[in-house]
Amino acid sequence: MEFAKSILVTGGAGFIGSHAVRRFVNRYPEYRIINLDKLTYAGNLDNVKDLEGKLNYVFVYGDICDNALVDELFAKYSIDSVLHLAAESHVDRSIENPMEFINTNILGTLNLLNVARKYWGESAGNGKNLFYHISTDEVYGSLGKEGYFTEDTSYDPRSPYSASKASSDHLVKAYFHTYKLPVVVSNCSNNYGPNQYPEKLIPVVIKQVFENRPIPVYGTGDNIRDWLYVLDHVEAMDHIFHKGRLGETYNIGGNNEWNNLDLVHKICALLDGKLGKQPGDSAKLINFVTDRKGHDKRYAIDASKLKNELSWEARQQFDKDLGDTIDWYLELYKSNKD
Ligand SMILES: NC(=O)c1ccc[n+]([C@@H]2O[C@H](COP(=O)([O-])OP(=O)(O)OC[C@H]3O[C@@H](n4cnc5c(N)ncnc54)[C@H](O)[C@@H]3O)[C@@H](O)[C@H]2O)c1
Repeated sequence: MEFAKSILVTGGAGFIGSHAVRRFVNRYPEYRIINLDKLTYAGNLDNVKDLEGKLNYVFVYGDICDNALVDELFAKYSIDSVLHLAAESHVDRSIENPMEFINTNILGTLNLLNVARKYWGESAGNGKNLFYHISTDEVYGSLGKEGYFTEDTSYDPRSPYSASKASSDHLVKAYFHTYKLPVVVSNCSNNYGPNQYPEKLIPVVIKQVFENRPIPVYGTGDNIRDWLYVLDHVEAMDHIFHKGRLGETYNIGGNNEWNNLDLVHKICALLDGKLGKQPGDSAKLINFVTDRKGHDKRYAIDASKLKNELSWEARQQFDKDLGDTIDWYLELYKSNKD
């Protein structure tokens, strides 16, 4: 079967990657999607179970750092584009054990870039190849009460995770300038939605309330994050993949800032209703714990470039999307219990 594109998606069994793979497989049957994933603790084939058997979908178990494997995939599937999501993604784990972050996020990205360069050459501008690197707003550091990250904000990563992502962003852009590899980068704010491993704030809160255990909140809970629904993120990715300008960075945000404590209270209130508890019951589980080392105060995104250039902006339906997300996790936790 002839395919219009042959896209290597890395990390497609993880949280965001699984939604990206699903969108591309279902929306573009003319594209072949090769999902390469090492299935770490954060990867789960259940996240993409519904795609098994689709004619334009292939899953490959493996490591993005494995040069022979990545080379073999480029040759076997005539890979013309890469959507690179595979990463170690949890800040707390990076503080405990930075090495895995350096291996996967930096060396793994470098390996993908080298193989793409070997097969594509100096192909920027041929309209066929694209190396799309998915990154985070955390590379920009931390904001005070005012201001937003723009694409021109200087990099100032402060955790081993964000430093490893910043390094990979720089390598991707260096390959554009040095070798004319066709690349694009996006830096996105905090995502929420189904399929996220329960170590990040929203699934943790739901799990703890479901199990009637303390909800850990760092410091005083006054750190501020911008929250974007994962399906919005992959829709933005689709726009950037098809229409983004080569060598450019696009910031992706939800225009939806919450401090951690307010957000936890909001989730608790929704859970009270959904679990038939008295109003205020779930919030009684809130337990302030020692703050994360070097905890960034505030992230906020100015996503106007994406809106002006590619006509994309996040839908403003946080209540609905958060409610759906909570329902999804409650179903999962109930079925795990049965
Ligand atoms: N989660 C967020 O809020 C967020 C926000 C902005 C950007 N990002 C970026 O988006 C990407 C995906 O994040 P996520 O939250 O879905 O992460 P995740 O931790 O849920 O999933 C990562 C996936 O990558 C796979 N993986 C890890 N190391 C690998 C390796 N060496 N080779 C092959 N596969 C490997 C894992 O098995 C997993 O399936 C990351 O690059 C992350 O930096 C995440």
